[in-house]
Amino acid sequence: MAQKIYIFDTTLRDGEQAPGMHLNVKEKLEIAYQLQKLNVDVIEAGFPISSKSDFDAVKEISKVIRDKSIAALARANFKDIDAAGEALKGASNPVIHTFISSSDIHLKYQLNKSRQEVLEIAAQSVKKCREYTDNIEFSAMDATRSDRQYLAQMYEIAIKNGATVINVPDTVGYALPLEYSSLIEYLMDNVRGIENVIVSVHCHDDLGLAVANSILAADKGARQIECSVNGIGERAGNAAIEEIALIIDTRKKNLNFYTDINIREIAKTSNLVTSLTGYMIAPNKAIVGKNAFSHEAGIHQDGMLKDRSTYEILKPEDIGLSSSKLILGKHSGRHAFVKRLEDLGFNLNEVEIEKAFERFKSLAEKKGAINDNDLKAIVQDEISEIAEYFKLNYYHILSGTNIKSTSTVGIEIKGKLFEAVHFGDGPVDASFKAIDQITKINTKLIDYSIEAVSEGKDAIGAVKIIVASNGMEIPGRGISTDIIEASIKAYINAMNRIIENQEI
Ligand code: KIV
Ligand code: ZN
Repeated sequence: MAQKIYIFDTTLRDGEQAPGMHLNVKEKLEIAYQLQKLNVDVIEAGFPISSKSDFDAVKEISKVIRDKSIAALARANFKDIDAAGEALKGASNPVIHTFISSSDIHLKYQLNKSRQEVLEIAAQSVKKCREYTDNIEFSAMDATRSDRQYLAQMYEIAIKNGATVINVPDTVGYALPLEYSSLIEYLMDNVRGIENVIVSVHCHDDLGLAVANSILAADKGARQIECSVNGIGERAGNAAIEEIALIIDTRKKNLNFYTDINIREIAKTSNLVTSLTGYMIAPNKAIVGKNAFSHEAGIHQDGMLKDRSTYEILKPEDIGLSSSKLILGKHSGRHAFVKRLEDLGFNLNEVEIEKAFERFKSLAEKKGAINDNDLKAIVQDEISEIAEYFKLNYYHILSGTNIKSTSTVGIEIKGKLFEAVHFGDGPVDASFKAIDQITKINTKLIDYSIEAVSEGKDAIGAVKIIVASNGMEIPGRGISTDIIEASIKAYINAMNRIIENQEI
């Protein structure tokens, strides 16, 4: 009989640990609602001890998503576990996911503890989790570079103290598929009590093997796969949920397992995560890349025209991609607008719809046809709208050949207008310097990129920046058909995020 593979989604936790990534509570909620539609089994909503916004995200998601298990991460210490337990208080099915390292490298250089001491901490921590919930996942960090016997001993102790899921992370993405699946086989044979718990796998993609490792592990008895939308996560990321789900669905006869993932929601979910995180997907990315269903070579096109099965193992409709390219314009009504947003995976409330619709109308006046990418840019701007401590009122630019660019910027702070003028190396530099004069926040710009979200000279420009402030990397985003305005908005957005973090 086919075995169910539980899907543990870690987009909002490991995914959010990707460099330069920061999602606020509202953005995380939006993604959580879409994960609910995708029908994952567990949503790992955050790491509550790490920040107030992570704590709040876990708390809010626990309140509203009632038909899924909600997990929160905690290192193996009482303070972390208390924070996770508190954040999960409102959840209908809370999971505390606690972890400690098991490899000698980590024990020596990171924990500076003996093997025996670490076993004791693992036991006490799992026991502590039981004060909050019966659903306890225990992870042995860097499991794949650990001594197998010691690893088995650690899992045995975790199970004895109440762990219901044991997770085997390939933390540094080092394992080869056969090595990893043989480790799972070894644990199945050598950990007492393992038959009473779920074995979970958590693979990183440093060598591009995360998905292969996860699938082979399932073949050896792992029943839960941890993965993230678009494969986002620490460094090279995690196993991509869309690849795991589609491999299992496409090859179900050979693999003999299934997931409950609603694969028709994959395109929407991927789109939403791309829009809200600003993390672009390579065009050739499996399943969700923009070329994943394009056939370019003449011989392939010829085959496709004769019979799609010649070169197509997946249909775009399977993952919810519609072939119709509906273009909205200034005559489009609210109904068509809302329907299109729903198709793109957005779940807005009335106020957000109203604001987004107004912006859509004014953009449609300026540029006529509004395509899906324009819409995503507009809506993402609305959803991620954070408290505007600094509010752009106006700007003027003087720029050209043989003159130094000068920018005058007017920003409102609590209703009072402040103006600054600065020159710089081009209009963007001049504007950022003028903004610095007003905000007085010490930052360093470490990344700046601009991209046209659609085709044509009147395309919306989306600017993404990352600034460093107080040892943290903060992103900023801004959109406009005017690239200087988009840059200024992105910079002010980053400053507002810094203020938001300070207020936490
Ligand atoms: O990669 C890892 O080891 C982790 C653990 C916290 C499970 O993310
Ligand atoms: Zn991880």
